[in-house]
Amino acid sequence: MSSSAEIAEVTVLITGSNRGLGRALATRFLLQPRTTVVAAVRQTDHATMQSLSELPRGSGSELITVKIDSLSDSDAPNAVELLQTKHGIQKLDIVVANAGYGTVYGDLSQVRPGELRDLFDINAVGPLRLFQAVRPLLEAGNRPRFVLIGTPIASIAAMEKAPFPMIAYGASKAAAHYLARKMHCERARNFGMEQAPVPVDDSADFVFAQIGKATREETSGKFVTIDESQEFLEW
Ligand SMILES: NC(=O)c1ccc[n+]([C@@H]2O[C@H](COP(=O)([O-])OP(=O)(O)OC[C@H]3O[C@@H](n4cnc5c(N)ncnc54)[C@H](OP(=O)(O)O)[C@@H]3O)[C@@H](O)[C@H]2O)c1
Repeated sequence: MSSSAEIAEVTVLITGSNRGLGRALATRFLLQPRTTVVAAVRQTDHATMQSLSELPRGSGSELITVKIDSLSDSDAPNAVELLQTKHGIQKLDIVVANAGYGTVYGDLSQVRPGELRDLFDINAVGPLRLFQAVRPLLEAGNRPRFVLIGTPIASIAAMEKAPFPMIAYGASKAAAHYLARKMHCERARNFGMEQAPVPVDDSADFVFAQIGKATREETSGKFVTIDESQEFLEW
């Protein structure tokens, strides 16, 4: 992270933070000084949680674990209430809607409608549930950023460039992209973000740096890409 000063003294909530990109981001934020990392996971007793609590921390930084299953209507509001009442957290500076799930089930003629429904619930409705729950705390935050981890394969404009038969995943992420852009257009202060299929540490370094320098003027509502040949992707 090139601008650790910018990102110090923040409270950040990351969903799906027990493994993959979410964990790699939680690791980076925890290493910052005076940073509270709220690790949202769907199973607080999962084996991966023990090692998360053992991660090295910057001076004065702490880890709080909350349960948020993307499929639950009540988990995100309950987590926010717990943060306020048990942990005394009255603001969130950064929320990363990272939890997601993808499957490959052939082309349009083969995808099961139930698969599409299931992935919409996780990948699109999940981030919306999260946004609605955290919005009051985000609005109290310092330079607040709501970060959606999207995917270039769900770009409608660039569909020909990514002919992967991940129909349910792509459609559900495209819906999530719409919601992220809508958050910007409704003048919520947020930040739409794309994540490419590259090594997780490279992805985490990129996302972490982008979060540090995100502004409403430059990046909010934009489809940020790790692809160096272009600054932003088309939605
Ligand atoms: N990997 C890539 O190449 C790539 C590319 C573009 C975008 N992305 C996006 O990047 C994000 C992270 O991906 P990743 O590669 O780190 O995936 P991953 O290693 O499979 O991790 C996915 C995370 O999401 C959590 N999750 C899944 N379903 C959930 C639910 N219903 N409620 C709450 N949490 C749930 C998982 O929790 P459990 O451990 O409990 O299952 C896990 O923590 C996703 O949104 C993905 O779509 C990934």
